[in-house]
Amino acid sequence: MHRGQLLLAFFTFMCISTSDSFEGHCTLRYNITAVEGEPFYLKYCLFPSEHENESTTIKWYKGNKPHERVELSSSSSPRVTLHDYVLEFWPVELEDNGFYFLQMGNYTHEWELHVIRRSKDRCFAEKRVKNKSVEVKKRLQVSCEHIYYRKLINRTSLYKNCEMIEYNKNQLQKNAEFKDQGYYTCMFFLYHHAKLFNVTDTFNITIVEDHSNIIPVVLGPKLNHVGVELGNDVQLNCSALLNKKNKLYWNFQEENEEYSNVHEEEEIRTQSSEGKWLASKILRIENINEKNLNILYNCTVASEGATDTRSFILLKKEDLIDIPGHVFTRGMIIAVLILGIVVCLVIVGVIYRVDLALFYRHFMGRDETLTDGKTYDAFVSYLRECRPEHGEEHTFAVEILPRVLEKHFGYKLCIFERDVVPGGAVVDEIHSLIEKSRRLIIVLSKSYMSNEVRYELESGLHEALVERKIKIILIEFTPFSDFTFLPQSLKLLKSHRVLKWKADKSLSYNSRFWKNLLYLMPAKMVKPCGDEPEVLPMLSLS
Ligand SMILES: *[C@@H]1O[C@H](CO)[C@@H](O)[C@H](O)[C@H]1NC(C)=O
Ligand SMILES: *[C@@H]1O[C@H](CO)[C@@H](O)[C@H](O)[C@H]1NC(C)=O
Ligand SMILES: *[C@@H]1O[C@H](CO)[C@@H](O)[C@H](O)[C@H]1NC(C)=O
Ligand SMILES: *[C@@H]1O[C@H](CO)[C@@H](O)[C@H](O)[C@H]1NC(C)=O
Ligand SMILES: *[C@@H]1O[C@H](CO)[C@@H](O)[C@H](O)[C@H]1NC(C)=O
Ligand SMILES: *[C@@H]1O[C@H](CO)[C@@H](O)[C@H](O)[C@H]1NC(C)=O
Repeated sequence: MHRGQLLLAFFTFMCISTSDSFEGHCTLRYNITAVEGEPFYLKYCLFPSEHENESTTIKWYKGNKPHERVELSSSSSPRVTLHDYVLEFWPVELEDNGFYFLQMGNYTHEWELHVIRRSKDRCFAEKRVKNKSVEVKKRLQVSCEHIYYRKLINRTSLYKNCEMIEYNKNQLQKNAEFKDQGYYTCMFFLYHHAKLFNVTDTFNITIVEDHSNIIPVVLGPKLNHVGVELGNDVQLNCSALLNKKNKLYWNFQEENEEYSNVHEEEEIRTQSSEGKWLASKILRIENINEKNLNILYNCTVASEGATDTRSFILLKKEDLIDIPGHVFTRGMIIAVLILGIVVCLVIVGVIYRVDLALFYRHFMGRDETLTDGKTYDAFVSYLRECRPEHGEEHTFAVEILPRVLEKHFGYKLCIFERDVVPGGAVVDEIHSLIEKSRRLIIVLSKSYMSNEVRYELESGLHEALVERKIKIILIEFTPFSDFTFLPQSLKLLKSHRVLKWKADKSLSYNSRFWKNLLYLMPAKMVKPCGDEPEVLPMLSLS
């Protein structure tokens, strides 16, 4: 065999699917296919052992049959150009079919060229596609580079199944998915003698499955209780992630008993876009009877090394629901009861807050008046002008308050009219009396502010708000809605420190008014006087 043919056979074997290139871009194969209308070239592969011999002349021949040759020259066709080892066609046409020879000294190299028609409905020629397979999830890469025409290329486009797609820097690169399968055509546009040509290069890319195996798993919990009713049907659905060749099957005790009502259905398999297989298989149990209950129905997936099983047990619905249901209901009832009791206690506590506090004071025998060195439990401030229209307030302040608080509950009040010796410096006197008192009781009325008692109020407020020595109790004797006449600082008092006198309801010692007042008064050991009636003597208030 000729040296060239030997090498050719060797390289054809090696590069069967890869390329037309050796040393980058020479034509190795014997059988060459070209597409009409595209630029095309034949280039002899100069092997490293062959050094260019300047004196060797190179000749190109074309023959329609082997051993029938016509020498080619640049003048034989305007479409053909010759450069030593290279023969170029601009472009190649159907009439260029045939055998081509390169002669170097007495060595001849031969090719056979098939020019095929351009496909009318496709952007590539099927005979010229290069097959390529890519494993799913591995890197899919399509590079559009033409080594031979590189310098002439003006623009490159990439088509997938003949539709143009976006890509970056002449190459598409991504993780392969099954939907990526298809024909990828690189189309190179190039200028030659001011004429635009295009050359295509097409890859038939097939996405193949991941050959690595997964460990198959049955999906869902390992043990499942299914509530059923006798006489009904049930379907148990078992699904598994597995490899293509793994098996999924159902098994259950059937040695001793007849299970003619249990049927295994056909397996359904689907493949995800990532190539993973999901199989599911239904076990159908019709007209359930006692024998079908309380046994294991196992669904197993088996691979060479491993198995995975999911078991189902059929239980009567009432058995399934009763046990946890009982516990659940009882728990709920207890929780609701406890919650109810807590809510009731809180409500009672809020409503009877004052009574509870008073009871506690009494029970503990608390007395906070012993050590503070003050003389009076409260200084009573009221409108002292005794005009007829203020008569009731006056009576309340100088008669009712002392009668109840002093005689019945054992407090000591300071009432100006009664306890201050006339004459002397009134203002200083009042100030020192307020200092000696634990509470300042103000009996409010509309004309209160306009009066001289304003001083008492301001002095008390100073003690209460600035020095925090005295607490203020407001008694709203006649109801009024407009509080704007009160000094700003008084409005800061907490609302529970304002007591409303209700003429008819507040008469009894047990009424809310007196309880609230006691609650606001300092804690003191009560010395009840047995002879006091339970209800105040009727007052001439109305
Ligand atoms: C170069 O060609 C000449 C004449 O054909 C020949 O004598 C010589 O051996 C060749 N040299 C090589 C290195 O092939
Ligand atoms: C492309 O590849 C697929 C899968 O290998 C094959 O079935 C199809 O025939 C190929 N198409 C061509 C035109 O070679
Ligand atoms: C492609 O050709 C056009 C028209 O001849 C020219 O304007 C443009 O610059 C060329 N682009 C490249 C990248 O060669
Ligand atoms: C490529 O060239 C051929 C022949 O010159 C022409 O018929 C075809 O329209 C060109 N394709 C594109 C996309 O320009
Ligand atoms: C069984 O479960 C699988 C996976 O959850 C689901 O794809 C399939 O549709 C189910 N079959 C039936 C009949 O419900
Ligand atoms: C079902 O699976 C359980 C746990 O894997 C096993 O103990 C039992 O023998 C199996 N039963 C059948 C009928 O295969």
